[in-house]
Amino acid sequence: MVSDKGSHATYLNQILERYHFDATSLLQILREAQEHYGYIHTDAIDYLAAQLKIPRVKIEGVATFYSFLYLQPRGEYRVLFSDNITDHMLGSAGLMKHMCQQLWVEPGKVSEDGLVSIDTTSCTGMCDQGPAMLVNNIAINRLTPARIDRICGLIRERVPLSAWPAEFFVIEDNIRRKDILLHSDYQPGASLVALLARGTLETLQEIKASKLRGRGGAGFSTGTKWESCRAAHGQHHYVVCNADEGEPGTFKDRVLLTSYAEQVFEGMTLCARIIGARRGFIYLRGEYRYLLDHLQIVLQRRREQRLLGSSILGCADFDFDIEIHLGAGAYVCGEESALIESLEGKRGTPRNRPPFPVTNGYLDQPTVVNNVETFAASSLIALHGGDWFAASGTATSSGSKLLSVSGDCERPGIYEYPFGVTVAQVLADCGAHNTQAVQVSGASGVCLVPNEFTRRIAFEDIPTAGAFMVFDHSRDMFEVARNFVHFFAHESCGFCTPCRVGTSLLKNMMDKLAHKQGSPYDFHEIEKLNQLLLTMSHCGLGHAACNPVLDTIAKFRPAYDQRMLHQEFEPAFDLDRALSQARQMTGRDDPGAHLAGAHPGEKI
Ligand SMILES: Cc1cc2nc3c(=O)[nH]c(=O)nc-3n(C[C@H](O)[C@H](O)[C@H](O)COP(=O)(O)O)c2cc1C
Ligand code: SF4
Ligand code: FES
Repeated sequence: MVSDKGSHATYLNQILERYHFDATSLLQILREAQEHYGYIHTDAIDYLAAQLKIPRVKIEGVATFYSFLYLQPRGEYRVLFSDNITDHMLGSAGLMKHMCQQLWVEPGKVSEDGLVSIDTTSCTGMCDQGPAMLVNNIAINRLTPARIDRICGLIRERVPLSAWPAEFFVIEDNIRRKDILLHSDYQPGASLVALLARGTLETLQEIKASKLRGRGGAGFSTGTKWESCRAAHGQHHYVVCNADEGEPGTFKDRVLLTSYAEQVFEGMTLCARIIGARRGFIYLRGEYRYLLDHLQIVLQRRREQRLLGSSILGCADFDFDIEIHLGAGAYVCGEESALIESLEGKRGTPRNRPPFPVTNGYLDQPTVVNNVETFAASSLIALHGGDWFAASGTATSSGSKLLSVSGDCERPGIYEYPFGVTVAQVLADCGAHNTQAVQVSGASGVCLVPNEFTRRIAFEDIPTAGAFMVFDHSRDMFEVARNFVHFFAHESCGFCTPCRVGTSLLKNMMDKLAHKQGSPYDFHEIEKLNQLLLTMSHCGLGHAACNPVLDTIAKFRPAYDQRMLHQEFEPAFDLDRALSQARQMTGRDDPGAHLAGAHPGEKI
């Protein structure tokens, strides 16, 4: 595409004005600039640097951090196949190869005519209806060879994405089991009416009494978090909804945002009232770009109904509004402090903690970050009370949990259960047969085998952010672990050396084993790497990176043993042997040409 400096000013000015020339919106500005041009042009960077008064290198630093931002031209059609193990189980690698052949393009490259680029990306959150892909960041699921052929035809004819058949973009909720959250006949505004009737502090007491714990994985008490944030001093307080949902195999937030968005926004509004915030954000993962218009419509409707904006429900001192920030393909941005950095328009590098976001969050102000499901649950608690909520689940894990079930089962989809449900029950309900293993809570979670299927989904037994991937006996659990290790190596943000180097070494080791070049010595190396990652990593990504390997070594050892070169092999560097070439060249083989202890004439 031809460019002169002036040609960028027009569209960039429109974007900059929308974001009030505010550098904290840099990620959104770059994302929109790219939507205009297909990539971020070097002249556009110059222009943005001048207008936002930030160094050019900072803009480049941000742009290079996110997988979905490009500084070089990509194809007019940018195709990204979801690379998770369950996509592979459904044949995604073959489909990608087929598409590359059809369109004469190599994986990872741009076709010579600039028409198309085809590559892989981490799990796109469509695991119940894969294999999945993104075309120019818009999701397309249920890929088959026939569907790929039709897509290739549309690309060859340069049909704009907006004119592709609507059936390609159908994304189903697949809700298979409902409990207290999904069954609710919730009416927009009802929880806010209840909040105003009961009182702010009294509502906080209900949240505490409910014993609600965060649904994003760590399970921190929501009431305590809100209370601490309320008590924290700051000029402004902020509410952030974490909709980054990047853990492979997780897609329940996608469904909540599709069909229960009102309830999520209402939970955020409740939180705002309790902590004293006037501004909130929903950090929506880039893979869910297709939900943007729908969420904007819901937000607008709530403003019109006076459930958002100024003087909510006619209450003069109740002002709160929500902005949507789109991510751009970085799993680590799900970590709350990285998410806040990203919200501030920076690279998504996790911060040092403490201090925690409740005191020093967005723009260093007190901030609550909660998962989508946590906010949805809190709106029901405001309506029905803490005791009602605490009546379901277990003593230490109150309420229900949404599970994203995928893999080898007849009915993948969303299953909501009271906490305490056994793994066996979930497997029976989703129609899983001949199950060899279940990976709970994604790549960083835990791999369970049949004698553990009596265990329960609960913070006190198996905590989970929601992923539940099923593997039957036809699957090679070594390859499952290898896929997860590749995921971590790809998603490591590179900030700290143990994780950046450790995840790469681990990936290389697993690849070596895959090529049957391994030795028992590698197990020691993996154990050493695990210790390093556990003790030296800066954030949870590094801490969890070895989990899938250690789990599968412990539970599926034969899958590793069959990949050994031989059992006794001890790799070591033999310096005397390495000098043999020099000896040959000089024609010497006397003791002086050997290292001490080595013998002349040794077979080399
Ligand atoms: C590498 C990493 C990725 C994470 N990804 C997510 C995510 O996608 N969604 C989420 O809600 N929490 C995620 N978390 C957890 C968040 O840091 C944080 O604990 C959570 O958003 C708090 O909300 P909750 O209390 O409602 O669970 C992630 C944590 C780590 C270490
Ligand atoms: S542990 Fe990994 S992902 Fe986390 S900060 Fe360090 S390099 Fe980044
Ligand atoms: S999108 Fe395919 S497994 Fe998640």
